[in-house]
Amino acid sequence: MSGRGLILGIESSCDETAASVVEHGARTLSSVVASQIATHARYGGVVPELASREHLRAIVPVVRGALAQAGVTLDDLDAIAVTSGPGLAGALLVGITYAKALAFAQGIPLIAINHLEGHIHAVLLHEREAAHVEEELRFVVSQVSESRPGAPTDSTDPALALVVSGGHTHLYLCRPAHGTWTYKLVGRTVDDAAGEAYDKVAKLLGFGYPGGPWIDALAKFGNPKAVPFAFSQIKTKLHLGGKPPRTKAAKTAPIADLDPHLLFSFSGIKTAVLRYVELHGLREEAQARAARLFPNQSRHPERSAAEDLHFQATPPKSKEEALALCPQPVLDLVASFQHAVVGDLMKKTFAAAESLGASRILVTGGVAANLELRARFTAEAAHRGIRVAFPTLALSTDNAAMIAAAAWPHFQAGEFAAADLSGDPSLALGR
Ligand code: KG4
Ligand code: ZN
Repeated sequence: MSGRGLILGIESSCDETAASVVEHGARTLSSVVASQIATHARYGGVVPELASREHLRAIVPVVRGALAQAGVTLDDLDAIAVTSGPGLAGALLVGITYAKALAFAQGIPLIAINHLEGHIHAVLLHEREAAHVEEELRFVVSQVSESRPGAPTDSTDPALALVVSGGHTHLYLCRPAHGTWTYKLVGRTVDDAAGEAYDKVAKLLGFGYPGGPWIDALAKFGNPKAVPFAFSQIKTKLHLGGKPPRTKAAKTAPIADLDPHLLFSFSGIKTAVLRYVELHGLREEAQARAARLFPNQSRHPERSAAEDLHFQATPPKSKEEALALCPQPVLDLVASFQHAVVGDLMKKTFAAAESLGASRILVTGGVAANLELRARFTAEAAHRGIRVAFPTLALSTDNAAMIAAAAWPHFQAGEFAAADLSGDPSLALGR
């Protein structure tokens, strides 16, 4: 224990094994992410059993790498933070078990962090780091300050956070309260998450996994107005009256009492894209594109499961090669899909911020890496005179710096995990 405010964060909730050391929740000393994309890509999605096995393989080198990159040892750490949910049960267990063992051996506290709170703190961490750099610069320029700047403090205004990833499309009202934060769920998807729609549409059109970066890269070559996709008003009664929807996102929080204007639904647009592909005879060319872009990727029927585990797929082709394989109608479809999804995310997020009196918007999660989303949210925020912030591109997708940063207020408040901490795949954030 160094007393330097050093927290080691560990994240293993889905298909990234990550570790990071963050100082005072405000300065990233290291961030190491081992992605399993290559393992899951040929299955077109995350295979839970393979994810757990890959986490087991990666966790020790990833944590060692994060300590080395930060130039610290286990003895320097003040606490260990780990994602306790939501996520895949077996994947969560790997990170939690390892974090528990390390904390016990070092005699330092263990802090359990909700993955969604982590995503929100990815933006706050970026804001704090930017503020710190600004303060440092001001100090260097003036040379008259009596003391060096300390850790910057967060704004005390309530913020509206949109967490938009492969598993979630949730809106939270976030309030700083006595050094920590409180979260109130104010909107969410009733079926698929936006990232899930990106992944499914990309797969349908013969692109790689995860689909978001492919669609992001190709959309700028198409006409976003070519296919008029529309989002209709969601009828809550359909969902409230019957059984709860069965998606991974849906399990994490109830939709009762939420304003229907702040509910998202992305399964309809996925079906609309499918219908468009069928109607315009684009299915075969999508299959041909997939075969050209990812030769050798699918599971071979003559390989045993054991051989399959060690099979190295041919490296996938680049996005430039994908572009060359896309006729204009496909590029137009991709651009129209993205334009509609980003438009819907914007409409509901700004409406929520306005009706709830939030003075700023935080957009985070894998889909927040999307360039059109960033540009349009930024322009709309400037137009409305409201602030909007994103994480760095690297911290938009899953990482452990956000887990270590989110743990800092809990560390200061003495909120530590019990020795019997276990993972909760459906863990909800806020009410
Ligand atoms: O936050 P994340 O890494 O993992 C989850 O917590 O789900 O998000 C992954 C999701 C995937 O669905 C991926 O397709 C999407 O984020 N994504 C993107 C982009 N980069 C990743 N979606 C749109 N545009 C991108 N540039
Ligand atoms: Zn995530």
